Amino acid sequence: MPGKTAEEMALDQKEISVAEFFEKNRHLLGFDNPAKALITVVKEGVDNALDACEEAGKLPHLKINIDDLGENKYEITLKDNGPGIVKEQMPSIFGKLLYGSKFHSRRQSRGQQGIGISASVLYAQLTTGRPAIITSRTDENSITKRFKLKIDTINNEPEILHEEELDDGFEPGTEIKIVVEGKYLQRYHSVDEYLKQTAIANPYAHIEYSNPEGENFDFRRAIHELPPEPQEIKPHPYGVELGVLSRMLKGTESNKVLSFLQNEFTRIGRTSGEEICRLAEVDPDKKPKNLKHNEQERLLNAMQKVKIQRPPTNCLSPISEELIKNGLAKEIDAEFITATSRDPEVYRGNPFQVSCGIAYGGELEERETEKVTIMRYANKVPLLYQSSSCAITKALEKTDWKRYGLNQPGSNGIPKGPAVIFVHLCSTWVPFTSESKESIARYPKIVKEVKLALQESARDLRRHLSRKRKGKKEKRRKKIFSNYMPLVLENAVELAGDGQELTIEPIMKRVIDEKLVEEVEEGDEDE
Ligand SMILES: Nc1ncnc2c1ncn2[C@@H]1O[C@H](COP(=O)(O)OP(=O)(O)OP(=O)(O)O)[C@@H](O)[C@H]1O
Ligand SMILES: [Mg+2]
Repeated sequence: MPGKTAEEMALDQKEISVAEFFEKNRHLLGFDNPAKALITVVKEGVDNALDACEEAGKLPHLKINIDDLGENKYEITLKDNGPGIVKEQMPSIFGKLLYGSKFHSRRQSRGQQGIGISASVLYAQLTTGRPAIITSRTDENSITKRFKLKIDTINNEPEILHEEELDDGFEPGTEIKIVVEGKYLQRYHSVDEYLKQTAIANPYAHIEYSNPEGENFDFRRAIHELPPEPQEIKPHPYGVELGVLSRMLKGTESNKVLSFLQNEFTRIGRTSGEEICRLAEVDPDKKPKNLKHNEQERLLNAMQKVKIQRPPTNCLSPISEELIKNGLAKEIDAEFITATSRDPEVYRGNPFQVSCGIAYGGELEERETEKVTIMRYANKVPLLYQSSSCAITKALEKTDWKRYGLNQPGSNGIPKGPAVIFVHLCSTWVPFTSESKESIARYPKIVKEVKLALQESARDLRRHLSRKRKGKKEKRRKKIFSNYMPLVLENAVELAGDGQELTIEPIMKRVIDEKLVEEVEEGDEDE
């Protein structure tokens, strides 16, 4: 049988709608099993709500409710006190994939792709056929608007089923209601755990949550002030790629290469700009659009060689050492808590910063023989899945924990001990390994920074453990001596005998020889 001709094959070629693509590949968005799907829907809603509140300068107050409707169906309701959404934008935000305000901005936020919440709407209609119900009000003086909508997947456009205006005192903010097929679990990978970890990393948020079993959680604020708003930033020259530089050179409004460098990158001033041009042997007055391919390559190489300051810190919103300690102490009753924050670094032109914390002992003591609990975060969002492919896990496994007092079977791997290890990476663009944003790509720069942060906190832990050990020994010694005091006195009386002189040396010798050595040795073995 003759094969197809190019002309026949050409008839089969079609553009693919992004909504149809993700309908087929919902696992790429975090909807690969029912338990994970339930968490993903809550996570996308919570991320957006926290982003919106912070951008509007409001202390977040979230109310989340999950109702078990039976037959593996759950209704999720999420209300925020954010700025609300204007009615013209509501259908596209919830009914169109790859639509959002954050993809093109170089500012740190939880959302970045413009896909999160519409993907949840898509998953709901795929599994239960139910539309999403979105209600929003921008302030006390505006009208509350409600939409019932689905996604027309062929065209990737919202399909509005019903819209109305409400007059019932709806508190300003946004509420989403979605019914999905899911599974509610109460283990490590659960909505309960996800929200607890969110509360730890966002201690300025008040989160009320009612789970499908009717249990109510009230994660209150530990801090009543929002962190400073991260500023938008231009790319840093270190690590920028040729394709990106080429696009920037084409699109720039600057007339000369020198002004292009100064205007389009952070931390390039006149002197460093001139030095880059000199090193690249590129005329600083040349029009950027006219640079030939090899000139672009030379410019890129020179940009990596010239010494340029680190990116400014105000483009990032790290979790400070104090916030980490507060957050951990709020949810974990540990005997020791420490935290570290590193200076910002750059990968592929994107600034990033790592901070970490360790909570040890106390209520965790019962987990002595288990692997430590790792809390991974990217831009203040807990990462619960795909731990093994994450840069954070890799750095943790490569750290020599035995040196710091934790048990680590084999030469590397996850350590064991009564500890929670918290690691946060923030960036203007987090390099996730997939659209579901579950793990951070293992760029060597990132792995190295995480490792350095972990080592700093681990040194604090080692100091604590050694103080604790010393204290314990001291206490045991005192206890033993006081236990033997009556014996010492008894011996003293016996040895002194009638009219004999009382000296302490033979008495102590007898007590030590007979009893004390034996007991201390036993104690040492126990340790
Ligand atoms: N609760 C909300 N209040 C105000 N604006 C919102 C809210 N939820 C979403 N938005 C707006 O809708 C946009 C799209 O949200 P969506 O979750 O789909 O994408 P994203 O948050 O930009 O990126 P990601 O796909 O990484 O989540 C956001 O960029 C934001 O501007
Ligand atoms: Mg989002």
